[in-house]
Amino acid sequence: MPTLRSATASASTAGTASPTAIATPRSAKRRLTSPRRAAGSPDASQFTSPHKSPNVGIVGTPKLLSASPRSSRKRLYGDFVAAEKPKWNPRDPAQMQVVKEALHVATVPSCGLVCRDDEQSRVLEFCKGCVEQERAGSLYVCGCPGTGKTLSINKVKESVARWADETGMETPDALSINCTSLAKTHEIFSKILAKFQTRKKATCKLSPLQQLQTMFSHKESAPRRMLLVVVDEMDYLITRDRAVLHDLFMLTTYQFSRCILIGIANAIDLADRFLPKLESLNCKPLVVTFRAYSKDQISDIIKHRLKVLEYDVFEPLALEFCARKVAAASGDMRKALGVCRSAVEVFEARLQESSDQEFGLVTFDHMDIALSKAFKSPVVDSILCLPQHQQMVLCALANTFHHCKKKATTLGELNKSYIEICRSTQVPAVGMLEFSNMCMVLSDQGFMKLGQSKEDKLRRVMLQIDSSDITFAFKGNRFFQKCLEQQKF
Ligand SMILES: Nc1ncnc2c1ncn2[C@@H]1O[C@H](COP(=O)(O)OP(=O)(O)OP(=O)(O)O)[C@@H](O)[C@H]1O
Ligand SMILES: [Mg+2]
Repeated sequence: MPTLRSATASASTAGTASPTAIATPRSAKRRLTSPRRAAGSPDASQFTSPHKSPNVGIVGTPKLLSASPRSSRKRLYGDFVAAEKPKWNPRDPAQMQVVKEALHVATVPSCGLVCRDDEQSRVLEFCKGCVEQERAGSLYVCGCPGTGKTLSINKVKESVARWADETGMETPDALSINCTSLAKTHEIFSKILAKFQTRKKATCKLSPLQQLQTMFSHKESAPRRMLLVVVDEMDYLITRDRAVLHDLFMLTTYQFSRCILIGIANAIDLADRFLPKLESLNCKPLVVTFRAYSKDQISDIIKHRLKVLEYDVFEPLALEFCARKVAAASGDMRKALGVCRSAVEVFEARLQESSDQEFGLVTFDHMDIALSKAFKSPVVDSILCLPQHQQMVLCALANTFHHCKKKATTLGELNKSYIEICRSTQVPAVGMLEFSNMCMVLSDQGFMKLGQSKEDKLRRVMLQIDSSDITFAFKGNRFFQKCLEQQKF
């Protein structure tokens, strides 16, 4: 399927839940929303966390800090001090459960949505305009998987109802359809029709689409109330039956139509593929694009979701690492949450193996393992399948390019680096001819590029893969860690 979903599907498997399944079990929600204890509260003295906010140090002088009682510190540093939390007890199954729930993709964040204010307000304004003027309209929301489209539009639906309530407008009816659940694409029209018709006409010869068209063409038959129709996973209609998609958007162009249509899909290139046709049919929707989350946004969202907890769970550096990796790979929030959950599980497994009573936090190392699991790429797999000496040559290449930020080296230089690795790991090095043959094999497999030269040692060598794939492949392997520690030449 030519959608972004198919292109990135494998990258978003961890902890993936159906986008429709975002209802939080009530009990879980209640537990998650328990109020946080503020550091300044009477029982704050029992908080023994050594994890002070890293920002404290940047404000004021050490003298001030040590002299200030807690209350005045709070006045001075506000949120920084309030961020202090007690230690968690990961051996407590209830606490562990709450942490995992807070990070679960199916959990609707109780504390509003961060990072999508602009997109939400554009959709909300569009809906308000339609309701106020009692006119139909269509809007298309697109963006990569896990960028908060479904979540945001669900929140907008709630906001529209609240706004109508507050302003005394008639609240539009609402209908949400997930296209993956349709047995036939045409079913979408019967679902919309059913929402307008309280009683089914037994003897109607017209198809549901024709009935809707007729209904919206005449003032007498037009429904009074507006209907907000949210059509999620619309990619299924784009790829399976474009006529249905055209007909669907066309429904908003009838003179007495009452449909406010919001389509959600991953296909960002719809504008090129599809909008011209809709434009010619006079039903070009307003387009709102959800861009992939940046590192800072991912970090903000995770922190926001963890605010419901009464304790710190992650080292800040671990969260930062996750946000950076996921933002660089896809900007998919589902993936980021999956990796964080997986890091908690790695931490939990380690805890079960040890008898240590000092619990600590989920660290950079736990996150590193979770990220390795999540981002295992075909390149990493191929590296792991190579013979040992070829792997050592790749390590020599990674050292060369990592340390000196060079883009190219020569076969002679690379050979020196390889020999140094062999010396330090006490593995007998192969001769120059064999080394050069190994490099040709690696070049044929696409790991590196070999230039031409009369003299073998002067041939240019360029790395064709990301050097981080090499370091990633050998994470946790002591022998290759040693290889990767060698200084370049
Ligand atoms: N701004 C946010 N704040 C909190 N959680 C978020 C946010 N954005 C995304 N998430 C989390 O990521 C999950 C995926 O978001 P959502 O289902 O809205 O993505 P989507 O863009 O609809 O993805 P898809 O294209 O795959 O349907 C949500 O269930 C939620 O847990
Ligand atoms: Mg979705």
